[in-house]
Amino acid sequence: MNPTTESNHADVAAGHVRIFDTTLRDGEQAPGFSMDRRAKLRMAQALEALGVDILEAGFPQASPDDFAAVAEIARTLKSTTVCGLARCQPGDIDAAGRALEMAQHSRIHVFLSTSPLHREHKLGMSKAQVLDAAVAGVERARGLCHEVEFSAEDALRTEPEFLVEIFSAAVAAGATTLNAPDTVGYTTPAEIIALFDYLRRHVVGADKVIFSSHCHDDLGMAVANSLAAVSAGARQVECTINGIGERAGNAALEEVVMALKVRAPHFGVDTRVDTRKLFPTSRLLTQLTGQPVPRNKAIVGENAFAHEAGIHQHGMLKHRGTYEIMRAEDVGIAETRLVLGKHSGRAALRQRLKALGHDPADAEMDGIFARFKTLADKKREIHDEDLEAIALGQDPDALGPWRIVQLNSTTHLGGSASASVRLAHDDGREASEAAIGDGPVDAVLRAIERATGNDLQLTDFNVRAVSQGGDAQGQAQLTARHGKRNWNGHGVSTDIVEATALAALAIVNRIERQAPARPPVAVAHL
Ligand code: KIV
Ligand code: ZN
Repeated sequence: MNPTTESNHADVAAGHVRIFDTTLRDGEQAPGFSMDRRAKLRMAQALEALGVDILEAGFPQASPDDFAAVAEIARTLKSTTVCGLARCQPGDIDAAGRALEMAQHSRIHVFLSTSPLHREHKLGMSKAQVLDAAVAGVERARGLCHEVEFSAEDALRTEPEFLVEIFSAAVAAGATTLNAPDTVGYTTPAEIIALFDYLRRHVVGADKVIFSSHCHDDLGMAVANSLAAVSAGARQVECTINGIGERAGNAALEEVVMALKVRAPHFGVDTRVDTRKLFPTSRLLTQLTGQPVPRNKAIVGENAFAHEAGIHQHGMLKHRGTYEIMRAEDVGIAETRLVLGKHSGRAALRQRLKALGHDPADAEMDGIFARFKTLADKKREIHDEDLEAIALGQDPDALGPWRIVQLNSTTHLGGSASASVRLAHDDGREASEAAIGDGPVDAVLRAIERATGNDLQLTDFNVRAVSQGGDAQGQAQLTARHGKRNWNGHGVSTDIVEATALAALAIVNRIERQAPARPPVAVAHL
């Protein structure tokens, strides 16, 4: 297949920065952020609508589930380049090639560590061996997709001369994007500027390729370092929604994009991202993973556009620009917070969902409307957050195999609590169990464990209100250890014991659907 060097070159000239989203790969591999296939596809479609240029959909060789998710995303997306990660190993590269076969635009991202520390302690390879493996990896990938990206893992702690050598060899072998990751979040803006300047001056074929940054946030500098790389000529930024990713995370996509937009005269580049979809996309991710962003998170946090101090409000009333450098509408925060209720009709519901970034097909809308009516019977006011939960059908019933038929729980003042569940399995079985525990949550978990025959060791448990008011829906987020790995699940209900039961069942269902454990290489940082 033909590399796309010509169009890459044109992009540099036009000052266009490609947004390479790795929410579903670097983001998803972080503890607490795992998503099932349905969630990944949903997220991928939202990212395409957002306008990201390249979407890293996963690491196909990591597990059959990762492979299937990448293949499904590759089949579905139309305009976005779909990318699969691979080590410089034939098995990884071939798996990525197969997973991407149906993509309209495909990219294999091959990577190999280059720093002295990694060469010696992780790989046990000499410089020459690393160089040969990188070239062989790029050459193999070139025949299996439309374009190849090469990453020198831990580039920011690699000898710059060796980076020049390996990047020049990767270009000669057919790579069209060269990524210099700050794998451990160690660099500073001045340092990364110096490195990108140096690379662009010395790499042979530099004028035919795109240089890319991939910064981690260990010292809280991922976004600043990514922007510094852009100012030194990087024309691809690798980032994730809400900044999720390994350890402290990756550069936050919404922050990079808005910095480039708000400070356009300073950076002189643009992106293709539709910034009005940033907030809905961020919300979608929090709904799919059950992991909220902090209130004060830049761009998408609840406080990001709130002006509380009297002196600020006074200034704002006189001139918005006194304390506001961008408008909430620009990032897709709906101006009015419309509250729906049980008399609201299907059209009003659809309109509100659209404003929140959801556009369900008619068949899907039937289910959403039914869930809306059920909730409206229990809850007087339905807020945006409730609608988001409804739109995502956040109950494990959608996937099975286990469903809740009946649930009872009783708390005895000053004593223990008890719970009983009746569950139905897709294969026709029914299971009923009761248990006592230290509180209703513990009791319901034990009853579900018994009924399904799965042992769950709870390692993390959070409940929070997803909307306002005493009748607000609660979202339960559970992490449990089963076998050798942690599993996440979340559930939403006006009853927190039911929300907990749904979250536990989501975990059991994931286990039973047998998402195989990732090989250790994908769990520890790659
Ligand atoms: O941080 C890193 O080095 C990576 C590579 C696989 C690009 O995620
Ligand atoms: Zn990374």
